[in-house]
Amino acid sequence: MQPDGKTPILELKDFSYTYLEGTPRASEAVRDVSFRVDRGERVGIVGATQSGKSTVVDSFAHLLRLKSGQVFYEGEDVAAPGYDRGRLRREVGIVFQQPDSQLIEDVVGADVAFGPTAAGLSASETRERVEESLNTLGLPYAEYRLRYVHALSGGQRRRVAIAGVLAMHTPVLVLDEPMAGLDPRGRRELLDLLIRLQRDRELTLIVCSASLTDASLLCDRFVVLDRGTVVMDGPVREVLREADSLAELDITLPETVVGAREMQKLFPGFPTELLTEEELESELLKRLETA
Ligand SMILES: Nc1ncnc2c1ncn2[C@@H]1O[C@H](COP(=O)(O)OP(=O)(O)O)[C@@H](O)[C@H]1O
Ligand SMILES: [Mg+2]
Repeated sequence: MQPDGKTPILELKDFSYTYLEGTPRASEAVRDVSFRVDRGERVGIVGATQSGKSTVVDSFAHLLRLKSGQVFYEGEDVAAPGYDRGRLRREVGIVFQQPDSQLIEDVVGADVAFGPTAAGLSASETRERVEESLNTLGLPYAEYRLRYVHALSGGQRRRVAIAGVLAMHTPVLVLDEPMAGLDPRGRRELLDLLIRLQRDRELTLIVCSASLTDASLLCDRFVVLDRGTVVMDGPVREVLREADSLAELDITLPETVVGAREMQKLFPGFPTELLTEEELESELLKRLETA
């Protein structure tokens, strides 16, 4: 239970993980990572490559044998004896960083239907879910359901992978680097789709990213990782205010923040917690008017 009396939907507590433990190649991936995610929140787990984002995601999937740390779902320790792990799978949908590894069937419609069918939904319910999920991801059902997965572009395959998880109607959706490798147009389209998706459904969204550009438009809060530890955790604007510290972390800053840091050379105290071009412009105008 938290001080404000709310139980977070998902919580990670003192999570440390070492790959290949006990071997000469052992490497500590994350150390003492703790954070909570409230229902309906949109949290970005951000940090440079190898900072530990995917390891954190794997802890939610209960893929790692947790030696040190706990994962709580709605206040319950998922490693406790007798805990229904199936529940975790039904409620936390994860699109892994390599979506191809998640695509099971050769044909788009069959792939998206895999989860709902395995969950025991009827054929008609499954069909509805497949249609809805593909349409939501901008892959019109009628046009895409019989396409071969391997004939699609990388961006389309990623959308199929997301549709497959979406079709499970999990209250929590975790996306590990959903924009990575997409061209600017593909990124923009997927970003718009995800923003709409989060608005239209009461989803709790967790997005891993090494770029704050898209994440700052999609998330309310950032948990910033650096070499396996949490170095910042707060509302997006509060984190962007610390632009100087962020700039040292090898993460891509939003263009607005990069612009604002340039402006600081001319106007000391120029704010960096800016999300849109319009905000940057209006801050600049304010200073030009008073100059
Ligand atoms: N399967 C693995 N075996 C050994 N080391 C790994 C494995 N997966 C990740 N690591 C190491 O753990 C650290 C964190 O990696 P990862 O969680 O993938 O970070 P990110 O997702 O932020 O790029 C890195 O140093 C990486 O090399
Ligand atoms: Mg990763």
